[in-house]
Amino acid sequence: MTSSEINWAEVGVSHPHESARLHVCGQASYTDDIPELHGTLHAALGLSPYAHARLLELNLEAVRAAPGVVAVFTATDFPGDNQCGPILKDDPILAKDVVEYLGQPVFVVVANSHEQARRAARLAQFNVEVLPVVLDPRAAHAAGSYVLPPMALQRGDAEQALMQAKHRIQGQWQVGGQEQFYLEGQIAYAIPKEAQGMHVYCSTQHPSEMQHVVAHALHIPSHSVQVECRRMGGGFGGKESQSALWAGAAALSAWLLQRPVKLRADRDDDMLVTGKRHEFHYDYEAGFDDNGRLTGISVSMISRAGFSADLSGPVATRAVCHLDNAYYLSDVDIRAMCAKTNTQSNTAFRGFGGPQGAILIEYIMDDIARYLGKDALEVRRQNFYDRPDSGERNITHYGQTVADNVIHELVAELELSSEYQQRRRLIAAFNASSPILKKGLALTPHKFGIAFNVTHLNQAGALVHVYLDGSVLVNHGGTEMGQGVNTKVAQVVAHELGIPLAQVRVSATDTTKIANTSATAASTGADLNGKAAQHAASQIRERLAAFAAGLSGLSAEHAQFAAGQVTIDHWRMAFSDLVQKAYLARVQLWSDGFYATPGLHWDGKAMKGSPFQYFAYGAAVSEVLVDTLTGEWKLLRADALYDAGHSLNPALDIGQVEGAFIQGMGWLTSEELVWNAQGKLTTHAPSTYKIPAISDCPEDFRIKLFNQANPADSIHRSKAVGEPPLLLAFSVFFALRDAIASLNPDAKISIPLTAPATPEAILRAAQAINPQKSS
Ligand code: MTE
Ligand code: MOS
Repeated sequence: MTSSEINWAEVGVSHPHESARLHVCGQASYTDDIPELHGTLHAALGLSPYAHARLLELNLEAVRAAPGVVAVFTATDFPGDNQCGPILKDDPILAKDVVEYLGQPVFVVVANSHEQARRAARLAQFNVEVLPVVLDPRAAHAAGSYVLPPMALQRGDAEQALMQAKHRIQGQWQVGGQEQFYLEGQIAYAIPKEAQGMHVYCSTQHPSEMQHVVAHALHIPSHSVQVECRRMGGGFGGKESQSALWAGAAALSAWLLQRPVKLRADRDDDMLVTGKRHEFHYDYEAGFDDNGRLTGISVSMISRAGFSADLSGPVATRAVCHLDNAYYLSDVDIRAMCAKTNTQSNTAFRGFGGPQGAILIEYIMDDIARYLGKDALEVRRQNFYDRPDSGERNITHYGQTVADNVIHELVAELELSSEYQQRRRLIAAFNASSPILKKGLALTPHKFGIAFNVTHLNQAGALVHVYLDGSVLVNHGGTEMGQGVNTKVAQVVAHELGIPLAQVRVSATDTTKIANTSATAASTGADLNGKAAQHAASQIRERLAAFAAGLSGLSAEHAQFAAGQVTIDHWRMAFSDLVQKAYLARVQLWSDGFYATPGLHWDGKAMKGSPFQYFAYGAAVSEVLVDTLTGEWKLLRADALYDAGHSLNPALDIGQVEGAFIQGMGWLTSEELVWNAQGKLTTHAPSTYKIPAISDCPEDFRIKLFNQANPADSIHRSKAVGEPPLLLAFSVFFALRDAIASLNPDAKISIPLTAPATPEAILRAAQAINPQKSS
């Protein structure tokens, strides 16, 4: 009795984003657009001007006396816990006694206007004892200074394998961090409610976590705190844990004053205060045979955690679990350290450490190819996991069987459609006759594990209400940040009830509707909430089918729901008519739904298990043109093939792939975080921090979906799409490396190009390998 028996579907269809029209007309409502209640006050944070210091005295007299100021609060004003650390309790909302990075919030000032609060926040006088500042993750590592104990994962005997390897390479490398640069900055609007309640509107990926932080900070039960988010103007991981500081500070102010308080960060403060993608430093050694096949590998990764743990532990875990990318690693020795530095506490960012793990093995593949004088694609292919039906080389270094490998077919298809081999020859010919302008080409694959590593987070809930006119309201625990989770969940519900998508509306995420939700993260939003909403809708459908069977005297088994009609054999009734009749007969027309991903387990200590439900694959080919005298470059063409399974919405998925590709390209080429010697982040605005612009997108950009059903029982056999395609941008970085290598084609050396490959970095690499040492 599935509706798929009739040729009608609301999933697998390229519907526009549910808010597309609102977005482009400027009518989509964000937290700052909510009409302000009478008496609303505005808060600003007072930030530490020191990277590491003991606070001897904090003189706030001038702040209090500033025009429009109503109150100033510090760490001692919390009725409950002054704490916003998501895992460890090492992260104060407002610093007390010691400040650990330049930009750390120390007090909150509340004034009649936003402008007055911001001006007043600058007037504090700090009397401090300056303490030693550690800015470099390698220096922190040398001193053994971490925010968490080091991690290790071993399989086989890497030391022995390296000793016996035919060839060996070793080296050091690093990739930079990245600012999330959501267009809507961090914001919370807290409104006191009767009987010690608190309602917080917050731009957050994690309303339940905000609820807990606020409840603990105010020392009230969770049932007294309501957190609501209709949508974010982007999150990209930056609002997974770190919206808590803003929610906590706004709620504290609103609580103590018993007035509504809004706290909205301006861009510079947002960038100075919040954590970013982790910069990674690597030491690696790899052994391989004449074909370039890896026989052993030893890696140590040091991440810039910043001053507190935040999500650095799980980010490092995901990096370790993605070192293999699409490749079988036999004997492995990996160590990961989360270095403590006096900088912002780094956090989630699209990929969550996965990109930092996977890019290292791609760097090694690239080095091996140059060492052996082979095309890098050939070396990559040598190392792919075996096809699922053949061989033993399909168990990951953490012990999960790769049961759904499609990388062979996917890469073969892309190699052909992108004309990789022909273009490789054309580029070689171009470079032979062009001494200064050089072209480069690279194909990189990816495999990305889908699910939260922490098993219990893989659960979700939903509520579906059918009203008497046949319109449907869905609420689920996921949050909308532009990625389209609401559209996909609405499609699932429409499909299940056999009604047009236009009949389904999704309401704001709200902790009073779905309790104890996980963050919308790890790309699982549609997977988890789609299944939960399907579960809810299917219960209503079953009740309606039974009711229709009673009306018609036919079998409920034969009921079909499609195109707004319910049919049983030759009997038929409009969905809305059936609903009205069912109501009069007292049939429950709403339901909850729940989903928990089956089959997952993970031993965090041993770093072994099957943490992922399935893998999402993809590959991209990029071609670049580099001016080797200036370091300027251009992406001429990019082709990508992404494995979205049976896509729920191909248009949204292609949009996600394009966005992730360009965002990944920004990370690897133009976005550079710079701290000065005092620990001040000097790149704290778009004037100094360069995200990709429309002019950086390739004119020739060919994105396709690899349309094969997910073998895992995911929602309608689709696959997640939020984060994995960020890894497609590796192809841009390795195309740049390829172009630089052509300056000295016979040298079998590692091209010392660091990420981000800014023009300066490109020039440094070019000069380092160019035999003519041009300038
Ligand atoms: N797309 C848009 N437009 N805005 C965002 O903030 N965040 C990304 C990705 N795509 C993001 C986005 C990140 S980090 C994740 S984890 C996923 O969306 C989360 O949504 P999903 O699980 O529903 O895919
Ligand atoms: Mo995404 S980094 O998992 O929020």
